[in-house]
Amino acid sequence: MYQSKIAGLGKYVPENVVTNDDLSKIMDTNDAWIQERTGIKERRHIKKGDGNTTASMGFKAAKIALERANISKDEIDLIVFATLSPDYYFPGCGVQIQEMLEIDTCPALDVRNQCSGFIYGLSVADQFIKTGMYKNVLLIGSENHSGGLDFTTRGRSVSVIFGDGAGAAVLTRSDHVGQGILSTHLHSEGKHALELSLKGPSTNHWVPEIIAENLAAGGEDSQEDIPYYPYMNGQFVFKNAVARFSEVIMEGLKENGLDVKDIDMLIPHQANLRISQFIQQKFQLRDDQVYNNIQRYGNTTAASIPIALTEAWEEGKIKEGDTIVLAAFGSGFTWASAVIEW
Ligand code: ACO
Repeated sequence: MYQSKIAGLGKYVPENVVTNDDLSKIMDTNDAWIQERTGIKERRHIKKGDGNTTASMGFKAAKIALERANISKDEIDLIVFATLSPDYYFPGCGVQIQEMLEIDTCPALDVRNQCSGFIYGLSVADQFIKTGMYKNVLLIGSENHSGGLDFTTRGRSVSVIFGDGAGAAVLTRSDHVGQGILSTHLHSEGKHALELSLKGPSTNHWVPEIIAENLAAGGEDSQEDIPYYPYMNGQFVFKNAVARFSEVIMEGLKENGLDVKDIDMLIPHQANLRISQFIQQKFQLRDDQVYNNIQRYGNTTAASIPIALTEAWEEGKIKEGDTIVLAAFGSGFTWASAVIEW
């Protein structure tokens, strides 16, 4: 049995900064509400014509991660791409990255587990490396949310939260037992699938249908029945998130005979600063034990953990031998954790 470790990290966010005040010019919202409820001050949005897409942002993050890992694109055995906002309905972004990296052929797998997507992908990469099937796996989380949000007042409870960006990690085989990915735990509960969802386009909501519904829905206040914008039952999601975050973090720690006091850095999926603060308080962690950057980027879904992990590493907040815990909760519902010995 081999061990896998993260050999390189990278991130990319679009240059275009959108503040809460910018949003308040196009919908009925305000900086105070957004900061108080979510902690978000600003986020990045792709600007029409800036060349950014989910795949191209992922490519930029991946290039940095590969350089830092000192691993050439030809050594990549598998690409895993996590996103809820792919460039195309099909094929997935994984093959686009493979083409952008000019890799002749290699397997490319797309993961659709929303906010838990990066940890699900990390687990897949870890299993392939542990069994010896692959040596180097390129894992990417990238999202273009801004292209598909409802920026009218009707969609404000969702659209103010999300931002665009990408993060990437290169996982490689390590002979150092006890270092690297120690464990991953994955969960889902499909009975809550529609509490946080985007229903179309899909085989239930093809484009002609959506156009017809779009016309019929004109002037409606509720976002619940509109299939082409994301819907979120915010308070229900919040309650489930705080419970599942706590559970899955403890599950990971227990598996490794660790306790909350052993955590050097917790990197929670950046869904809402209030959720991170709740977890921090519950586990009595110091500020320097929890990394948050939602204030600057909003919720970037599958990209949020790799962006945060990259920044924490760039800022020197992660050192060799540290115990790092990643945890996520999101649409599905899905939730997951990973315990890493850096
Ligand atoms: N600006 C101003 N007012 C607003 C806004 C806004 N942007 N959005 C909603 N409001 C209003 C509502 O209309 C409502 O007004 P009312 O009381 O007059 O009816 C009031 O504010 C409260 O709205 P709620 O939706 O109840 O606000 P809440 O405190 O629940 O905050 C939020 C909403 C931020 C979405 C929160 O519920 C949350 O963070 N939920 C969890 C998110 C999460 O963890 N998601 C998982 C990951 S995402 C993924 O997987 C894709």
